[in-house]
Amino acid sequence: MVAAAPSYATQCCTGAELLRWRRGLLAQGGSAAGLDWLLEMQAGLIWQDLQRLQLSPERTVTLTASLQELEAIWEQHRTTQKPLQYLVGRCPWRDLELQVAAGVLIPRQETELLVDLALGLFSPSDGRNSAPLLWADLGTGSGCLAMALARAWPESRGFAIDLSHAALTQAAANLRSHGLQEQVLPLLGSWWEPLRPYWGRLNLVLSNPPYIPTAVWKELEPLVREHEPKLALDGGNDGLAAIRAIAMNAAEALAPEGWLVLEHHHDHSSAVQQLLRDAGLEGVSAYQDLEGNARFAAARRPAP
Ligand SMILES: C[S@@+](CC[C@H](N)C(=O)[O-])C[C@H]1O[C@@H](n2cnc3c(N)ncnc32)[C@H](O)[C@@H]1O
Repeated sequence: MVAAAPSYATQCCTGAELLRWRRGLLAQGGSAAGLDWLLEMQAGLIWQDLQRLQLSPERTVTLTASLQELEAIWEQHRTTQKPLQYLVGRCPWRDLELQVAAGVLIPRQETELLVDLALGLFSPSDGRNSAPLLWADLGTGSGCLAMALARAWPESRGFAIDLSHAALTQAAANLRSHGLQEQVLPLLGSWWEPLRPYWGRLNLVLSNPPYIPTAVWKELEPLVREHEPKLALDGGNDGLAAIRAIAMNAAEALAPEGWLVLEHHHDHSSAVQQLLRDAGLEGVSAYQDLEGNARFAAARRPAP
């Protein structure tokens, strides 16, 4: 299923008209970044062209949605705090456009790095092709990580696991819309459980599990707390419940020398590394996000 293309009528206007309309909406509240994202995603006006209109407001611009229709979406977003990604039903991530809907986490930019980290672990400097044969994405949500891995390693086979029926349905739709349904099998269930038949054979397992401590989750802005699924965000009292559960079976479920790669809360690096060591994994390493926070961890099952 291809992400919903804007079904709106096109509209021509001058830069001056568009900029006046934009200023008028922002005067009532909301973020300029959000409105510009909507203009790009729903009306096809990329940010650089918007900047050019500031310099040449006499230029005419063609939008793939009418201002009236954009305004209706924006008003709904502003008054209900519902994320724009849910309202337009789509979201860009890495080089993919994903469908997202309520009940499915909107993929975050920092998670893109988790893919690079996993790819790096399987790209030895001697140029040998060492792509994993079998991998899994635990807590797949929209399927973003599974899709990125499947595209990077077309010869591999993957599993996309989630406990949420809504998330797994969305992931399956996204996989289908990108022609990856033969390569990645969506499985409903908790962490390693649906993978039991493959235990001992998984060369790579990556996960961006729920890791926000419950007390922190309660303080999140309404845009996130009231609209994105709690199951995707709330990591229990200390934020480590899911990572504990994942670490617990890793040494048995991974293939010998198979990698586990995790995203975690920005101040959980030492705790996560300790959990991985306690689980019998070796080569435990921490990796930073773009802001310099230790946000990822990797470790592998020892060789037999
Ligand atoms: C932080 S979201 C990550 C979603 C997606 N991988 C991403 O990076 O955007 C965590 C995901 O884990 C799923 N989840 C929570 N508990 C789970 C469990 N026990 N077993 C499997 N998946 C679970 C949630 O439904 C959610 O889709």
